Amino acid sequence: MTQQKAELGMIGLGVMGRNLLLNMADHGFAVAGYDRDPEKVTALNREGEGKKVMAAEDLTTFLDSLQRPRSVMLLVPAGDAVDAVIDELTPHLADGDLIIDGGNSFFADTDRRRDELEADGYHYLGIGVSGGEEGARRGPSMMPGGSREAYARVQFLLEAVAAKVGDDPCVAWLGPGAAGHYVKMVHNGIEYGLMQLIAESYDLMKRGLGLDNSRLQTIYRGWNGGDELNGFLMEITGDIFGRKDDRSDADLVDMILDAARQKGTGMWTSQQALALQVPEPNIALAVLMRDLSAHRDERKQAAELLQPNLPTFNGDVQQAIDALQGALSAAFLITYAQGMALLQEASHRYDYGLQLETVARIWRGGCIIRASLLEDLRAAYQRNPQLANPLLDQTLAKRLLQRQDQLRQTVELAARLGVPAPGLMGALAYFDSYRSDRLPTNLIQAQRDYFGAHTYERIDTAGTFHTEWK
Ligand code: 6PG
Repeated sequence: MTQQKAELGMIGLGVMGRNLLLNMADHGFAVAGYDRDPEKVTALNREGEGKKVMAAEDLTTFLDSLQRPRSVMLLVPAGDAVDAVIDELTPHLADGDLIIDGGNSFFADTDRRRDELEADGYHYLGIGVSGGEEGARRGPSMMPGGSREAYARVQFLLEAVAAKVGDDPCVAWLGPGAAGHYVKMVHNGIEYGLMQLIAESYDLMKRGLGLDNSRLQTIYRGWNGGDELNGFLMEITGDIFGRKDDRSDADLVDMILDAARQKGTGMWTSQQALALQVPEPNIALAVLMRDLSAHRDERKQAAELLQPNLPTFNGDVQQAIDALQGALSAAFLITYAQGMALLQEASHRYDYGLQLETVARIWRGGCIIRASLLEDLRAAYQRNPQLANPLLDQTLAKRLLQRQDQLRQTVELAARLGVPAPGLMGALAYFDSYRSDRLPTNLIQAQRDYFGAHTYERIDTAGTFHTEWK
């Protein structure tokens, strides 16, 4: 505890809020925290002992402990809780105070709150914070959006506590309004897509090739140690396969129920992709597979009823593993590409003015989708900041072409063995569609015109045409 006024106050002392505050205190900042739950206040007091941390159980003490104009960050669950805290807070605030929402808020909510709060004379920033508990404590990646003026007030502090790649902090002002929360939403969409692909690789190696968990651990660790698949999600996957259950003799992963939950960010990304007509099959399929996984009773019935006669694997295991490695590399790139393409389009639609080179740069460390591939994506946007889709970059296109055959082999194998691989299959279908200068959609146009006189365009003449088909 200190008499010095706090440079930032945090409302919401769950583990994320607490860890982020402690991280700030480690960097020498005086900070204050407030939560209605006395246990969380006690936890902050305990963990912040000896640091410039003040924990308060009542809002007035908390607000009085802050430097003016005040900067108050909220780390509370997205949705109604954010509005409730803002409603509780604003009667006590003064002109020029800054509210920061550090949760996974839906971007349209952030725009609404920004409009309301700025109209009342406050500043508002929406900051996506990624990296989980460990990231918050040791250095997250942060995606701020809002006014530049408001960002300037906390820039120094955020840069100090963010993850670093070399000396480069994984935080940068991204754009006005909800730009930061939009980028975080897409970050999470990509996260869903990558997790689905890794899960498919596990299924294919375990059920398809018959490998055990210890072999899987070695493989994932090996892939994480290489150039192309290196990244946080690959790293934790390796760890997971080495973890024993402490309630049984089994490996923990085998004891975990196969019904994935979600908090909404992947679904929002998919809905945005549909609304903006930027195809993102890998993100959407990842959401759909979580949904399907939750229908456990139906799956049990179907497992009894639908039993095709499928072959078992009798090929070269190492060759299949090598192909899978290349397939994952291609599918990862395609998944990031889909997310980046959505960001490019959203930036135009919503006037965010996003620099995707900056987005790739601040995703290189601290966040859940950090991976060596982001360095390559960053380089692609350095070459061409307006790139509509990273697959149009010559270097990345070349890399994808080198891997596409392995993606095809892996998809073939999964189809033959009946191991579901919608992410890998979706990535291949996206690749084959995206690289087709002629798609069969001429037939769809003909059908639309046939049954609904919806008209079509021709390849040889400009204009709109209709045919009496009968
Ligand atoms: C992060 C994570 C974080 C959280 C997700 C999980 O960047 O640190 O993305 O935000 O773990 O919201 O989302 P689901 O519960 O929807 O999987």
